[in-house]
Amino acid sequence: MKKLKAAIIGCGNIYPVHADILASKENVELKHMIDIKENRAQKAAEKYNCEYLTDYSKLLDKELDVVHICTPHFLHSPMAIKFLESEINVLVEKPLALNYAEGRKLIQAAEKSRAHLGVAFQNRFNENNQRAKKILEAETLGKITGIKGLVTWHRDRDYYLNDEWKGFYKTEGGGVLINQAIHTLDLIQWFGGPVKAARGNVDTRVLDDVIEVEDTADATLFFEADFNGIFYATNAFSSNSPIEIEIDCEKGSMRLFEDQLLIKKDGQIDNFKENSDTDYKAYWGYGHQRLIDGFYQDIWNDTQSNTINAQEGIKTLELIKAINTSSKNRSKYYLTGDDSA
Ligand SMILES: NC(=O)c1ccc[n+]([C@@H]2O[C@H](COP(=O)([O-])OP(=O)(O)OC[C@H]3O[C@@H](n4cnc5c(N)ncnc54)[C@H](O)[C@@H]3O)[C@@H](O)[C@H]2O)c1
Repeated sequence: MKKLKAAIIGCGNIYPVHADILASKENVELKHMIDIKENRAQKAAEKYNCEYLTDYSKLLDKELDVVHICTPHFLHSPMAIKFLESEINVLVEKPLALNYAEGRKLIQAAEKSRAHLGVAFQNRFNENNQRAKKILEAETLGKITGIKGLVTWHRDRDYYLNDEWKGFYKTEGGGVLINQAIHTLDLIQWFGGPVKAARGNVDTRVLDDVIEVEDTADATLFFEADFNGIFYATNAFSSNSPIEIEIDCEKGSMRLFEDQLLIKKDGQIDNFKENSDTDYKAYWGYGHQRLIDGFYQDIWNDTQSNTINAQEGIKTLELIKAINTSSKNRSKYYLTGDDSA
């Protein structure tokens, strides 16, 4: 098996999750760490014994197979497009892009390239989410009749003031929807299937003197399979309380909460506890290892089956666009999947 040469761009909060996994892989050589903040790039390179750079475009002169993009949202699409054009495989952290229009451009670049493009929606790989998905596919509980997603987290003034890119549409692309609740939106549509319309409301209620993006959003989602979903997300709670997803079905229900999956059927409750050992923040989930393993397997085998690709990654960006547009127009927004921004 060919040893793949990898680089990580952006050495902030999330990069060690990628770096630790790559450093432990036999057939991967972690070669370069890149950050515009030289001290971060240098420190990361020392820790993982590789070379550092401050200008990511210099990577294009190197012998490289895979790049992991762990930078602020506005850089995801332009960076990924450059590497895809050079036939270098790209794993981009969530979100796929800054917004839906940028995501469409990235899809076009991926379609023209022979290289692989994956997006880090690692929570799909958590054991209980996989278990719930299989139950839904097998219709053990019958068809879905309703779905609920709740994200009530805490992001304070310092969170935004300490990071120059957070809190602004130009650099973050939005607030709680695109940054914190995007995994929950992804799971809701992965479990429930295509959403045909959304009626939403977004607002900045607490830190409106610091941020321009929304800190609170709610939506009713109208699924093609003829049931409704309800969704609520805020960054204005007092703590990061566990995310909750509940799925009602014809013959029972499932509730995902913290590391538990409760399945109710015929008056009986089964409880599955996730193996949740992690050195990182639990709310990031435990799936990066499986997601990255699958992505590299697809590169080695030239398959697509283990990767969350751009077509999957853009679904949340269209949902976010739908919720925002509906809120602005005070009317239901129909998702079209087309190229318009
Ligand atoms: N999958 C998850 O659960 C998860 C969790 C946390 C963060 N993330 C995502 O990871 C990405 C990074 O988030 P973070 O919290 O690590 O951010 P961060 O701000 O801590 O790190 C980003 C790094 O990118 C660097 N950077 C900025 N511009 C650059 C450029 N032009 N070239 C090279 N480096 C540049 C910054 O200096 C910074 O060190 C975001 O997309 C975020 O949404 C995902």
